[in-house]
Amino acid sequence: MTATKAIILAGGSGTRLYPLTAVISKQLQPVYDKPMIYYPLATVMLAGIKDILIISTPHDLPHFESVLGNGNQWGINIEYKAQAAPKGIAEAFIYGKEFIGNNQVCLILGDNLFYGKLDFLRKALQSNTGATIFGYQVHDPERYGVVELHPDGTVISIEEKPKHPKSRYAIPGLYVFNNDVISIAENLEPGPRGELEITDVQKQYLQQGKLRVELMGRGIAWLDTGTPESLLEASQFIHAVEKRQNLKIACLEEIALQMNYITAEDYNQCIQRLPKSSYREYCERVAQEFIPQYD
Ligand code: G1P
Repeated sequence: MTATKAIILAGGSGTRLYPLTAVISKQLQPVYDKPMIYYPLATVMLAGIKDILIISTPHDLPHFESVLGNGNQWGINIEYKAQAAPKGIAEAFIYGKEFIGNNQVCLILGDNLFYGKLDFLRKALQSNTGATIFGYQVHDPERYGVVELHPDGTVISIEEKPKHPKSRYAIPGLYVFNNDVISIAENLEPGPRGELEITDVQKQYLQQGKLRVELMGRGIAWLDTGTPESLLEASQFIHAVEKRQNLKIACLEEIALQMNYITAEDYNQCIQRLPKSSYREYCERVAQEFIPQYD
């Protein structure tokens, strides 16, 4: 079996969050107590992926690099690639061609937050043969890619932001593709909004009978951060769960330790580099107390 690499796409102009995005890119905005990119990074780390490429604009890329570095501190490898002009999500596979090599790839959009039991992703990585996408029931599917399913679970149609959605299942920005995705993306024509649409990639797998959809159950929270209101709601959600449980979500140091990406000694060195903050205090507590297992 080939390995899995992950791409976090953190480009785009984020105009819907203006003037916040006049200062700093969308995926570095705070979601309660961490920059947004920490959450998708945590998702792929928890899925067992250690090779990660971050794609962003030439202007924003250095900011991501200064926040995350090369990933060594968390026992992972983070690479960076500038996307000259954003021409659609599927372009990530063209920019990521060398990085992906002959492996399968998990793509996560840098503004998509997932919370809950993530074993669905680990299972998808293990069992994927073509493309695996997810379906998540929402009240406003017209804002997303929408998947229509046959009662037996097979896919009937995929549509990008349909005016009249054929189902309530939105397709979250988290996908697993085999290596064919590179050539599919390279041969894709731009869609009506002038972009290489990720839904067109999915349609090609569908035509080949190689598209599988897994429904995300109620136990998973998929949070949107595209508007000032949804960004605030995401912060409130993270705050509510963290406060109630007295645990942090997407604490990358803790995850690196839990996943055995780093040793206890590395972990303590990580803490020494952190400035005095509630984040550092939390990491210190994790080192001292019983550490609840992630699952
Ligand atoms: C993109 C995809 C869409 C997907 C969504 C998830 O939409 O095109 O299929 O459902 O991300 O966040 P966009 O962010 O380009 O509006």
